Amino acid sequence: MARPKEYDNKIRLTLSTDYQIRERLRIVSIRSDKNVNQLINEGIDLVFDEYEKQGIYSDLHPHTSTKERHDMIQSDGQERKTAVITITNNKGGVAKTTTCASLAVVASKKKKRVLVIDLDIQMNTSDLMGYPIGSTEPNVANYLETFFDAQMGTVDIKNYILPTRYKNVDVMISSPKMQVNFEQTLQTVSSNRGDLVGRMIKNIKKLGLYDYVFIDTQPSMGIIVTSTYKESDWLIIPTEPEKYGIEGSVKVCNFVNTRIMDELPVAKIAGIVFVKTDERTALAKAIPAFRQQLEEMGAHCFQTTIPHSADVPKARMNGCAVTDLYPLSKPSLKYIELFKELEEVVQNG
Ligand SMILES: Nc1ncnc2c1ncn2[C@@H]1O[C@H](COP(=O)(O)OP(=O)(O)OP(=O)(O)O)[C@@H](O)[C@H]1O
Ligand SMILES: [Mg+2]
Repeated sequence: MARPKEYDNKIRLTLSTDYQIRERLRIVSIRSDKNVNQLINEGIDLVFDEYEKQGIYSDLHPHTSTKERHDMIQSDGQERKTAVITITNNKGGVAKTTTCASLAVVASKKKKRVLVIDLDIQMNTSDLMGYPIGSTEPNVANYLETFFDAQMGTVDIKNYILPTRYKNVDVMISSPKMQVNFEQTLQTVSSNRGDLVGRMIKNIKKLGLYDYVFIDTQPSMGIIVTSTYKESDWLIIPTEPEKYGIEGSVKVCNFVNTRIMDELPVAKIAGIVFVKTDERTALAKAIPAFRQQLEEMGAHCFQTTIPHSADVPKARMNGCAVTDLYPLSKPSLKYIELFKELEEVVQNG
């Protein structure tokens, strides 16, 4: 069974540059007739065999045809009610992408069928899903463009959904195209023909294929982000427990509150989650006060906080969600707890 080359190379690179692993293998190599690199190669083969057995990883690879992709994302006969969860904060660098990819992987391990939509031009989530910048597969911008001309969005949205190496997780990837002028065109077409991003989300829901859709957004309040707020069911707001992080969350809360007052459609806030926390710092001790401030604005805060850990950037370097590569690390265990809390919020409406 062919295995994706870039994934293979990433694992090889990680193992061969990890000092501790090399040191242990060096000791093993003294007693065997194989050198460290040969041992690494054999180890990789064993890992891949195991992955394939467990179905974690199949021969899916990004360069599949439309027909193959369609077959992969076929319904299993079950019509699902889809909860659309948007991960957002007007502040950058607050773990939106990390939270989006981590929750998607956790949900899939809980046997949920998941779609991840990357609406951020940076394509970080697309990368974590196996489609780095430069990927030539159909993307969200291509789908939205089908509304720009005579096709009027009659094209099947499934043509823009891609499989990932995570079992039960599909993705709609972003594109470097989604710049200011793209947003401007979107704005113009949307004002004539109705909210296009909203229509995209509705079309996904109509498929009935997914239990959860997790949407990653960029740190802005442009038309793409605000349209997403309108059509999503829930918002998750990752926040660092510090002044500017809180200010970014307050901006989202204000947007939601204003729309509620104007009786316009808007997602509910599932919760604010404190991220990158470090118990030893004074900032972590300020969380109860921040919590109170945000709850006074009517925004629920999750009990679970996600601790700061080097495992997050390490997993990212390997193009993986931390919950996939280091499932037993502290942030991963907390993302499992966060998903449990989220499920309760979603079920209780
Ligand atoms: N729990 C954590 N512990 C340590 N580092 C973390 C943690 N969560 C996220 N990070 C790091 O913080 C940085 C920003 O994370 P991430 O890209 O998920 O944020 P973002 O909100 O999506 O950023 P942007 O606004 O640019 O899209 C990354 O370098 C990531 O590795
Ligand atoms: Mg991001």
